[in-house]
Amino acid sequence: MKSQSLNSVELTRAGIVDMLSTVPASVVYASADQMRQAAVGSDVHLRGLIEFSNICRNNCLYCGIRRGNHAVERYRMDDDQLVDIARRAVDMGFQTIVLQSGEDLHYDADRMCHIIERIKAMDVALTLSIGEREYADYRDFRNAGADRYLMRIETTDVDLYHRLNPGMSWQHRHECLLMIRELGYELGSGIMVGLPGQTIESIADDLLYLKDIGVDMAGIGPFIPHPATPLAHEQGGTLELALRTMAVMRLLLPDINIPATTAMESLHPKGRIMALQAGANVVMPNVTEGEYRRLYELYPGKICVNDTPLHCRTCIGLKIQSIGRTIGQGWGGHGTHKNNIHQ
Ligand code: 5AD
Ligand code: FES
Repeated sequence: MKSQSLNSVELTRAGIVDMLSTVPASVVYASADQMRQAAVGSDVHLRGLIEFSNICRNNCLYCGIRRGNHAVERYRMDDDQLVDIARRAVDMGFQTIVLQSGEDLHYDADRMCHIIERIKAMDVALTLSIGEREYADYRDFRNAGADRYLMRIETTDVDLYHRLNPGMSWQHRHECLLMIRELGYELGSGIMVGLPGQTIESIADDLLYLKDIGVDMAGIGPFIPHPATPLAHEQGGTLELALRTMAVMRLLLPDINIPATTAMESLHPKGRIMALQAGANVVMPNVTEGEYRRLYELYPGKICVNDTPLHCRTCIGLKIQSIGRTIGQGWGGHGTHKNNIHQ
């Protein structure tokens, strides 16, 4: 009975398309919620997110910190500052630290490795989200102690990817994800929904891709047009489609980690709570301090830009408890829940 409930639902591409479109949303959310409960229980794992540099060599059409946006005030934290922020987050109880930045090669492999070693000395899980690098860099980061790596494929529609990410190669990004997996990181990837020209069928393919490469974590969020980008006047994704996509991900991969993404809450004040009740089991509160929070503006309307890390930790803790869920203890890696059939 138990293993039955943990089996992923065998969904065909057509079945996924139905779940993303014609099946009533409430049914899709309830199935994912049930699957989440059976596979990973009621724990919500918290990850402290540090946005340490908004400098980026890329020029993605959707992104507020794209190279071509000269209106952004750029920043880079120095190593001590970054490690201090991590220490404060760990003191607040976070057991995973996520380091995210634009693709900023100022942080070369040596520099990143020193930062990784200093944070790993605090005895927490460490996730990197710093984009495409050389194999040797990924290897060195891993050897320095990084546990997880997060890089969204964004879309598996290769033509759309190349239109949205000038100068980048979908194939290369895919190869980076394979390298990361091969090096033994826990692999996180994901997509945006509601990109201009993206179809429901293409989102179904994205989900099958994430299943196929065997992600340990999948982040799914709505595309939100940023006024200082070429996509300023596009429509953007809806919360409903983002939630449906996330819910179907849970049905396809029952026991992975799925965050209630910040972009969802930027579209609706209860976005993350809705996500936690439609398949999500992770939240990544921002623990970046001061002005930097505002300057890391991937999309407009980003939540919590004027709050402190402590405020957000308290706020999200109360929200999680208010829906009868518990805060996960430990590192909360993929496959560590007691229901896991592989243990
Ligand atoms: N709207 C929503 N999400 C965005 N991201 C970047 N720009 C936007 C936007 N305008 C997402 C991308 C990236 C992640 C860090 O943020 O998916 O991988
Ligand atoms: Fe930042 Fe609620 S999580 S204010």
